[in-house]
Amino acid sequence: MNNEAVMMAIAVLGGTGKEGKGLAYRWAKAGYQVLIGSRTPAKAITAAAQIIELMDGAGSVVGMSNTEAALQANIVVLTVPYAAHRDTLESIKEEIKGKLFIDVTVPLVPPKVTRVQMPAAGSAAQEAKQILGEEVEVAAAFQNISHEHLLGNGDVACDVLVTGTSKNARQEALKLVEAADLRGWDAGPLENSVVLEGLTSVLININKQYGSTHAGIKITGAINKK
Ligand SMILES: NC(=O)c1ccc[n+]([C@@H]2O[C@H](COP(=O)([O-])OP(=O)(O)OC[C@H]3O[C@@H](n4cnc5c(N)ncnc54)[C@H](OP(=O)(O)O)[C@@H]3O)[C@@H](O)[C@H]2O)c1
Repeated sequence: MNNEAVMMAIAVLGGTGKEGKGLAYRWAKAGYQVLIGSRTPAKAITAAAQIIELMDGAGSVVGMSNTEAALQANIVVLTVPYAAHRDTLESIKEEIKGKLFIDVTVPLVPPKVTRVQMPAAGSAAQEAKQILGEEVEVAAAFQNISHEHLLGNGDVACDVLVTGTSKNARQEALKLVEAADLRGWDAGPLENSVVLEGLTSVLININKQYGSTHAGIKITGAINKK
């Protein structure tokens, strides 16, 4: 556990769900203070208790409303279905000013989730930047990591590609990738998130075609990286 982790509070909005709960568990294990956000605080409190139980009673995880979590956190992570993306962002716009925002949202449009269907802004992450404005740095990450990996403790056979509005935003997000015990790559400006969000539909398609549940990707051939 490093000192930075002890000082940092991460809000996981929609952390009551599959992907958010997995990320929250991994960051809590790394020593971060994790604030689970929900539309229903009681649901967030239950999710926080479940994560603490997974950690045999250790860890700092608390549940609250999405707004309160965004207000109290240093870094805000969003893990809700795309249908809830805009409304959730609008509801925390004031609380998030001056903070780093990390979008995990994939703009899937059920029922055709194996087809790439990007929003007019280019990607969900670019849409988030439009909604949140100049005062918020935005990074996008974890779109290709199946939740099935996250509540376990084993090696994850999938890399995390991080895009963001600045080098600093990407570096801060990459610290959280490492804290989650995953391998991360700086994948460039936020505009590149279109590829990573789109890739999720490709992976879902592969799962469907080949009977898997958590297909992933790994970067090969890059030197100076373990
Ligand atoms: N599941 C994966 O393996 C995976 C992998 C990579 C990326 N993602 C992306 O991560 C995001 C979350 O995925 P998930 O599978 O964790 O989703 P989920 O379990 O279906 O939902 C996550 C949370 O979002 C909130 N939510 C659901 N519907 C909502 C609505 N209509 N309005 C407002 N909030 C709503 C709920 O929280 P409250 O009811 O507590 O508010 C819910 O617990 C998605 O954009 C998904 O594409 C998922």
